Amino acid sequence: METVTSLSELRAARAELPEHVGIVPTMGYLHDGHLSLAERARDECASVVATIFVNPTQFAPEEDLDAYPRDLERDLGLLKEVGVDLVWMPALKGMYPDEFQTWVTVDDLTQVLEGTSRPTHFRGVTTVVAKLFNGVQPQKAYFGQKDAQQAVVIQRMVKDLDFPIEIVVCPIVREADGLAMSSRNTYLNPEQRQAATVLYRSLSAAKAAFEAGERQAEKLRAVVAEMVDAEPLAQLEYISCAHPETLRELQGAVERALLSMAVRVGKTRLIDNLEVGR
Ligand code: PAF
Repeated sequence: METVTSLSELRAARAELPEHVGIVPTMGYLHDGHLSLAERARDECASVVATIFVNPTQFAPEEDLDAYPRDLERDLGLLKEVGVDLVWMPALKGMYPDEFQTWVTVDDLTQVLEGTSRPTHFRGVTTVVAKLFNGVQPQKAYFGQKDAQQAVVIQRMVKDLDFPIEIVVCPIVREADGLAMSSRNTYLNPEQRQAATVLYRSLSAAKAAFEAGERQAEKLRAVVAEMVDAEPLAQLEYISCAHPETLRELQGAVERALLSMAVRVGKTRLIDNLEVGR
């Protein structure tokens, strides 16, 4: 496995890779969710490029970029084990040179859900992902369903800007008790970790209600909200029942929906989602 930092090194190494190339963009501190993306890319592509870059522009000033967990040595060991061919770890100045002022923005899809409380987040994500795509020139790119809105936004960007890249969205990988894997789970103390299971428990209860015949979007949101309210360590930021592609909030009877939520457990903000009616 080769590792590179500068764009010129990346381009030279990329030129030697057999086509087709799959990219797995990450911010490091890898868990089984990331590795499932790399494994899928390994199965589907001749070459796999992973990127590790903690992207400052997708953090708001009050979100603690410096506290974001990092363990480069461990990450590289894991990527090697999975069979990744090339890892690009751009330097901050390489990605955002002085006087940087060009942004990629996706409009409506980024104004809802996560965008409500994180108004500059997706501009940072789409800009850095566009730059990663330009650098690596992959044919396929792998993202997790855990960040469902991110996947929808990136699919829109790729269509609108004619990137010749297929976006592959892989299923959420969960801990044994249902908690979706996330680098942020490491911030939780044991009591908070236990309380955090309320995300999946409440989404599963709403899904069970849907499967038992409940179709009203308002009722499905209420099932989740009531369960989160009953967990003293958890504070619901939002629960959404939206169209899985447009992300528009649904009212009344639904046939298919993305149930998604953000919850604060202590200072840690966790997200999760489930689709119903697939
Ligand atoms: O999902 C992530 O880890 C990040 O948002 C991404 C796609 C690597 C961009 O920084």
